[in-house]
Amino acid sequence: MTKNKAELHYDGKTLELPVLEGTEGELALDINKLRQESGLVTLDHGFMNTASCTSAITFLDGENGILRYRGYPIEELAEKSTFVEVAYLLVYGELPNVERLKWFKEKLNTFTATKPELKQLIQHFPKSAHPMGVLASVLSAMSAYYPEYLDPELKPDQVDNVIAQTMAQVKNFAAYNYRASQGQSLIDAKASNEYCTDFLAQMYGSNPDPEVAKALNILLILHADHEQNCSTSTVRLVGSSQANVYAAISSGVNALWGPLHGGANQAVIEMLQEIQADGGGYKKFILKAKDKNDNFRLMGFGHRVYKNFDPRAKIIKQACDAILTKLKIQDPLLDIAKGLEEEALKDPYFVERKLYPNVDFYSGIIYKALNIPTNMFTVMFALGRLPGWLAQWKEMNESPATKIGRPRQIYTGSTVRSYVPMDKRS
Ligand code: CMC
Repeated sequence: MTKNKAELHYDGKTLELPVLEGTEGELALDINKLRQESGLVTLDHGFMNTASCTSAITFLDGENGILRYRGYPIEELAEKSTFVEVAYLLVYGELPNVERLKWFKEKLNTFTATKPELKQLIQHFPKSAHPMGVLASVLSAMSAYYPEYLDPELKPDQVDNVIAQTMAQVKNFAAYNYRASQGQSLIDAKASNEYCTDFLAQMYGSNPDPEVAKALNILLILHADHEQNCSTSTVRLVGSSQANVYAAISSGVNALWGPLHGGANQAVIEMLQEIQADGGGYKKFILKAKDKNDNFRLMGFGHRVYKNFDPRAKIIKQACDAILTKLKIQDPLLDIAKGLEEEALKDPYFVERKLYPNVDFYSGIIYKALNIPTNMFTVMFALGRLPGWLAQWKEMNESPATKIGRPRQIYTGSTVRSYVPMDKRS
């Protein structure tokens, strides 16, 4: 992988640093020996320019709006594939043939039963509990019931099992939590149902229109992986300490919850509702978003890596139009969103900063059309992102290059000083 070397001239010395090249031509300076040879560390707030690992799962080119899972363009997968097939692709590296897909579906079905204790745990949370907090807690609690999967040295078939188990269980947890929050009885998974169809059946008690299940498949596929984002990096960081998979995935759920990350889908709908309640005039909100003395941001806009457009947002916008037409829903929030997008995209503030609608801008309107409550939107993101987290966790565990994640810092506090007795303190 070493293509070249870069030279660093510092303190009268010349240091040679290897330059690595990825399969899509991205170049990276390998600084592993930098501190040892020069005493320097690198400082990169928010890891804006730091690759934390090598990975063969997802390729993302933010400048050109490209996203591919294992080489396959997201547009093709969203159009032609299913979420379960994409999950297999992410985890195992290839599209499954008929036998492998059958094997994977059977694996998922083997692990659909949820322990009564975990069901009771979900039912004991207050009805008002945020579903992300419940999901993270129940995932964490799985460690208490499945000690066989806590060993850092899992065998390959145990890894297969725990991945299928987590995918089957998170689907249950999300639907059970919804039912419990409504004071309704829990509906168990049905093995004969397709994953997304079954999830909606577990939520609402009957199988959805196939177009609705298709829309959910598309949404989950679009969320399934996104290389080293905040939650995935969290999964890898926690996993790198050899904490068990439940701890790592539960940490990913917590990281995703924040409004700057997956929590933005809930925040977008709340913002659109605020604009609607204010009379629908979005120009005032554009001014607020541009005002540096105002903390308000245009939720669902901007991205750390996409600086042209978010390819997921493009597909979701089309899917949004299609499903609303199919369900004969006229949602005024969609008009507000379209107006807001149009206004922002011609505003120099957004143009100069390369701020475009991201995956969360239109997804909430689809979830709303599917009757999914607003506070569950981020759980839907988690359900979609789960195979990505699991694939990244597996890849990290299998890579000989993995080390415990442990960044450095530049200390900016007091230098050494002596303890001051209480009566001498000001
Ligand atoms: N509204 C108004 N101004 C914005 C926005 C926004 N949504 N996003 C960025 N900016 C401005 C920001 O104030 C800064 O301006 P200046 O250069 O004058 O200081 C500039 O654009 C760069 O922003 P940044 O915060 O330094 O960029 P970042 O890469 O650290 O943050 C982000 C990326 C996604 C956190 C940010 O764009 C944001 O807060 N967006 C709204 C929340 C959101 O929609 N999050 C979902 C992201 S997509 C789902 C996922 O994968 O997580």
